[in-house]
This record gives sequence, C-alpha cells and structure tokens, in this order.
Amino acid sequence: MSDIVTYELQGNIGIIRVNSPPVNALSQAVRQGLLDAITTAQADASDAVVLSCEGRTFIAGADITEFGKPRREPMLPQVLDALENSSKLVVAAIHGTAFGGGFEVSLACHYRCALASAQVGLPEVKLGLLPGAGGTQRTPRLSGVKFALDMIASGNPVAAVRAREVGLLDAIIEDKDLLVGAMAYAKQLVESGAPMKRIRDLSVDPQSVEPGFFEEARKKLAARARGQIAPDRIVSCIEAAVAMPMDEGLLRERELFIELMQSPESAAMRHIFFAERQAAKIKDLPKDTPTRNINSVAIIGGGTMGGGIAMCFANVGIPVVLVEIDDESLQRGLGIIRKNYNITMQKGKLTEDKMAQRLALISGSTDYADIAEVDLVIEAVFENLELKKEIFAKLDSNCKPGAILATNTSYQDVDAIAAATSRPQDVVGMHFFSPANVMRLLEVVRGEKSADDVLATTMRIGKKIGKVCALSRVCYGFIGNRMLGGYAREAQMLLLDGCTPQQVDSALERFGMAMGPLAMGDLAGLDVGYKARQARKELTDDPKLFRMGTRLVEMGRYGQKTGSGFYKYDPETRRRMPDPEVDTMIRREAEKFEVQQREVSDEEIHARCFFPLINEGARILEEGIAQRPSDIDTVYVFGYAFPAAKGGPMYYADQIGLDRVYASICEFRDRYGADYWQPAPLLERLAGEGKTFAQWDAERNG
Ligand code: 3HC
Ligand code: NAI
Repeated sequence: MSDIVTYELQGNIGIIRVNSPPVNALSQAVRQGLLDAITTAQADASDAVVLSCEGRTFIAGADITEFGKPRREPMLPQVLDALENSSKLVVAAIHGTAFGGGFEVSLACHYRCALASAQVGLPEVKLGLLPGAGGTQRTPRLSGVKFALDMIASGNPVAAVRAREVGLLDAIIEDKDLLVGAMAYAKQLVESGAPMKRIRDLSVDPQSVEPGFFEEARKKLAARARGQIAPDRIVSCIEAAVAMPMDEGLLRERELFIELMQSPESAAMRHIFFAERQAAKIKDLPKDTPTRNINSVAIIGGGTMGGGIAMCFANVGIPVVLVEIDDESLQRGLGIIRKNYNITMQKGKLTEDKMAQRLALISGSTDYADIAEVDLVIEAVFENLELKKEIFAKLDSNCKPGAILATNTSYQDVDAIAAATSRPQDVVGMHFFSPANVMRLLEVVRGEKSADDVLATTMRIGKKIGKVCALSRVCYGFIGNRMLGGYAREAQMLLLDGCTPQQVDSALERFGMAMGPLAMGDLAGLDVGYKARQARKELTDDPKLFRMGTRLVEMGRYGQKTGSGFYKYDPETRRRMPDPEVDTMIRREAEKFEVQQREVSDEEIHARCFFPLINEGARILEEGIAQRPSDIDTVYVFGYAFPAAKGGPMYYADQIGLDRVYASICEFRDRYGADYWQPAPLLERLAGEGKTFAQWDAERNG
C-alpha cells in the first residue's frame, strides 16, 4: 500500500488515512489507495472502517490537474462502488472541506460524521461541470430535491450543522480529535447493530416534487448563469434521480458529466480556477518571504469605498478605526455601515449577535493620533493626488514605523503618493472594487519601492478578507480600469454607428456580461466619467469620443440617480426602459458628425467592445504591468464580471485566435482612422507567429 493512503486495524476498527497534500484531491494514486484499502478491510478482523484524512481537509474533490489528460484506472465510480458495497460498515470522518468528488466519496460510505467546523459541498458547477460520481443521485435521496438542486446548482458550501439538519450528515463530532470521535461513533454503530445505510437503496418520492418545478428551475438558472450549460444539465440529472432507478440515474449523470467535461465553458472555468490561484503569487518573491502582523487597521475616508473596506476587516475579526474629516462625515460613514449590516441581517444572512460583534470592531475618529499604533492604513479619500499626498505625509508623521500604508486610488500614481512619505518601501496600492465588501477582486499595486514583505503581507491579508488578489505595477488605471477605457468608448461609438443602447447592452449580456456597459454607466453615474474626462484634457481632442455620455450629462440625465441616462428607469422597480428621447439625440449626433447609420451585428458589437480590452491587455503585458495573461483574466472575471465561462479576455482572445483579433483591429483602424485602434506590438507579433498569449507566457517562463 502507498504512503498516500494507509490502512491499519485498531481493535475492531479499520482506519483508512488519506495523506495527499495540499487538499487530498482524488489523484490516481489516491483512488488506487482507497480501492486497495477497502479491499484489504474486507478480509480482516474489522467490524467497521473509518475513512479519514490528514492535513487541512477531507478530500477536496477530483484532482483538477488530471482533467483533460488520458484516463487512468481505477476511475472514481469504481472506487465508490467498492466503498458502498463493502461488507464492513464504512464511516466517513470529515474535517475542513469535503467538496466535489470528496463529498461524493463520503456519500458512498454508510455513515458520515464531521467536525462542526467542517463544510460539505458540490462546487463542480463553478468549473462548468456537474458532480460526476453519484452526487446528483445520492444528494437528493438524502436531502430532498429542492435542497439538493440549490446546493448543486449554486455550488455553495453547506456548514456541517446545516448538513446534519437536512440529512446529508449523520453526526457532529464534539471531540476535538476527529479520529477519536469517529472511531467511538463507528463502535457505537456496530454495537447497536446499526444497518448498512446504502444511499443507492433509497428513492426520491416523486410526489415530493411539485408539478412544473424543474421547468421553473431551468428558467431561473438560465437567467442567472448566462452562457453556461452546466446548470441545465444539473437539473436533468436531478430529474433522473426522481424518475429513474439508481443505476440508470448514474449512467445519465456520467453521460452529461462527460459532455460538460468536453465543453469550452468548462475548459474556460478550469482556466480561471488555476488563474485565480496563480495570480496571488508574485513571481520574484520567494515563497518564504516574511510577512508583517496585521492585527489592527485604519481606514482614512468613510465614504462609498472606505465603509465597505472597513466591513471586510470587521467581518474577519480585525478591529478597524475609521477616520473622517469631521464628526458629521464620520457619523454618516458609520451610519451607512450599520445600515448595510442591517440589510444583511434582515435577509437572514447574519445573526444579530454576529452583527453586534462586527459593529463593535469598528470605531471612528477624526484624530490621526488615534491611529498611531495600527498595523495597516488604507486611504480611501477623494480621488485627488494632492489630497492623497497630504494625507500620506500626515500618516508618515503619525503612524508607527513598520505600519503598511496603502492607497485605494483608482488611477493616481502610487509612486508619487509614496514619495510624499519618508518610507516609500512601506507604501502599496490596495485597489478594491465597489461595493468593497462584496466584490471579490483586490488589485495589489506594486510601487517602485514597495518592499517584498509589504507585498507578501498585502497578498496574505487580501486572501484573509476573502479577496482574489492580482498584482499590478503602477500605470494610469492599473490593469483593470486602464483596459476598460476602450470597452466603454466603443459601447458609445456603436450608438453613433446605428445601435440602440439596448442592442449594445443586450448583445454583451448575451455573451455573458452581468450588465452591459451603458446600463453600468447609468448605475455608476454618467457624471463620474464626465468629470474624469474634464480632468483629462488630452481625451477631448476627438469630439466623437464619449459624445453620448457627455450629451446625456448636459441634458441632466446622470443615470439611475436622476431616473434617466442611456435608459429611463421605473421609479419603483428601477427596471430600465428604452427612451425615444435618447434615440432621437443619437440620430441627431450621427447627422452632425455625418455618420451613416447602419445595421450592426452582435459579432461586430463583441469585437468592437472586447478587442480594445485585449489590445490594451497586450500592451499591459509587454510593459510588465501585469505578471501574466491569466492575471488579466482574473482581474476581469472577479472585478468586472467578465463571464468565467469565457475564461477572461486574454483566454478568450487565445480561443478566437490572435490572428483574427489582430486582423479585426487593423480593419477598425483603417475604417475609423483612429490612433486608438493601433494594434499593440505584442499582439501583432504573436498573430504573425501564430501563437497564443498562453504560449508566449509559457515560453517566457522557460
Ligand atoms: N485538484 C487539484 N488541485 C487542487 C484542488 C483540486 N480539486 N483543489 C485545490 N487544489 C490546489 C490549488 O490549485 C492550490 O495549489 P497551489 O498551492 O499550487 O496554488 C492548492 O491546492 C491550495 O488550494 P487553495 O489555494 O484554493 O487553498 P484554500 O485553503 O484557500 O482552499 C479549497 C481549499 C476550499 C479546497 C479550495 O482549493 C477549493 O475549493 N478547491 C476546489 C474544490 C473543487 O472544486 N472540487 C471539485 C472538483 S471537480 C470534481 O470533484 C468532479 C467530481 O464530481 C467527479
Ligand atoms: P467618497 O466621496 O464616497 O468618499 C470619500 C470620503 O473621504 C468622504 O466621506 C470624505 O469625507 C472623506 N475625506 C475627504 N478628505 C478626507 C481627509 N482629509 N481625511 C479623512 N477623510 C476624508 O469616495 P469613494 O467613492 O469612496 O472613493 C474613495 C477612493 O476610492 C478614491 O480614490 C476612488 O478613486 C477610489 N475608488 C472608488 C471606487 C468607486 O467605485 N467609488 C472603486 C475603487 C476605488
């Protein structure tokens, strides 16, 4: 037997231990080890077998690195059959995260016990897949159809205590030592003559499913997970669990699992799984770079961003001092935080106790002397370089040596801000996205002089507060906002060419964007972009650029906050509606600029809006602003809701072919005669060489 899976007999209990760091994923060696161990147990003196894992977690799923490679026996269903058909009673002992294939392994056992801190889940949908080893058939047999469908279609984890309530687990182990507790539980089952509970012998009562339930679920999921096919196939599997005997249901599940495994959506989502984890790694920093302790935080500026950022830290138990300019602003900021927590509580997502605990961690001040001892300061005041420099000079004279001084600026020069202090090595950018307590992305901006341990600490603390971190060097707008300019520009240019706002937004939403850029502009406020453009005079040379946004602001249409922008909004529901007044304005502008309006295809809308992202992304790579193409994908998926099922802009470009992207960009350059359509040199070179961004990246890294 291997070291990866061991088996030993202690008294009348056999113990299978899986030890395959980091997360005990079901590699071929683990599958083989499990099969060997359960086979051994059949012939020895054991009365029951406990299946447990070493390290930080129970099995966290199939080994994703094996996907797309040749099959290697034994396959997981064979291992699960052996566990389920074991003549000795098998108890799974769960700690950490029993996810995907890992949870399916436990469902093939006869009983499941877990620490209260454990979680179970079937997150396959997040990889564009469905649980392919019986999860869709066994889960509804235990928890009922509705719970199972919610769990599998969302992919969200379920806390052990809740899983026990709905029947997915049989016992919570109070003992600190899980193995000791699980062995005692197994003995008790044996002594009480507990039956071998094989889930395959259960069935789902068809009467428990209301007529039309599956149809309704399909509709809802299609609206929620645009461009993804996995949710639909999950519904089919659960339907099979109700309508078919176990073996047929399993065959159906396998067939649909294989279909999804070969889908481009799943390939893209698996790319994002690894891209997300890679993005947190800084290439030239050794893994063992020391980090600083962060036990207290101050936020300067309690507006839209500052309040949300404060919540991120309070949510993980770190005390925060919110610093505002005067008492009135401070009370307003603290009030908004309280209101936000209240909304979460009313939705049932936070208990009153937890809310009180979190609020108690947030204090306020208008005096910099109160933040002298904090470990990390994040500045989130108005987007004004002079003001930011002033504040950093103040932080320099008030904060203890070694405190990390971060700015949440969206565009300003982090190096200029750092230069306002006597300790530029302690300065870094932490660019959160709005709403900061919800959006997953954190761009960590590396200043010219940011110290290694400051960067390593920022990455670590970002992960601690639940963010997906990606590193950017300093440039105007960093990775995300710098790329966004061309996307927003073209969405408006398409209107001049003859599109309506709803045509542009719908085409991009059908592609999978959560919200089209024009509707997004209305949500954020058209006046924000307008003011930013006024401040950048170099942008106003071409009168056609952002013309529509400017005209709307001049008409007093700032977006949702004034009830109208590119659309008009129902005051009650905030539903967007086309507005003939906007269509007329667009036509007039087109006449003024002598643009011949025409029919524009969805394909052109996609190319016009996404190719500028890709082109700027290529520049960002060549300049070394982003470390890797997959970091850019991470930024776009987690910060800008680019569909994970398309893998991010750079992956998407690789799939279409860089030669095609390059040719289209040249065509747009020739058609519009605009400088901003010049192809990036890296794109031109790779298109000529027939390479992808991923190949370029792999070659650079040897
Ligand atoms: N296969 C291979 N590697 C995996 C893995 C998996 N299932 N899950 C995690 N890893 C790797 C990560 O890539 C990372 O590697 P790195 O250190 O080289 O970057 C390392 O394990 C640690 O992962 P995290 O950084 O994510 O560690 P966390 O402690 O933050 O999270 C976790 C742990 C909650 C288990 C998280 O890794 C996770 O959610 N993993 C994915 C679980 C999953 O999707 N399972 C379903 C797989 S599909 C399946 O099971 C199909 C089946 O139905 C047939
Ligand atoms: P905001 O206007 O909502 O809040 C700024 C707050 O800073 C105000 O409450 C103001 O009273 C306070 N303030 C001003 N001067 C101060 C001082 N000297 N000391 C203490 N507090 C002071 O602004 P918002 O939107 O929160 O933006 C803050 C920063 O975050 C900006 O740099 C912005 O570019 C950046 N950002 C904004 C995002 C957004 O979507 N709003 C997204 C990401 C970054």
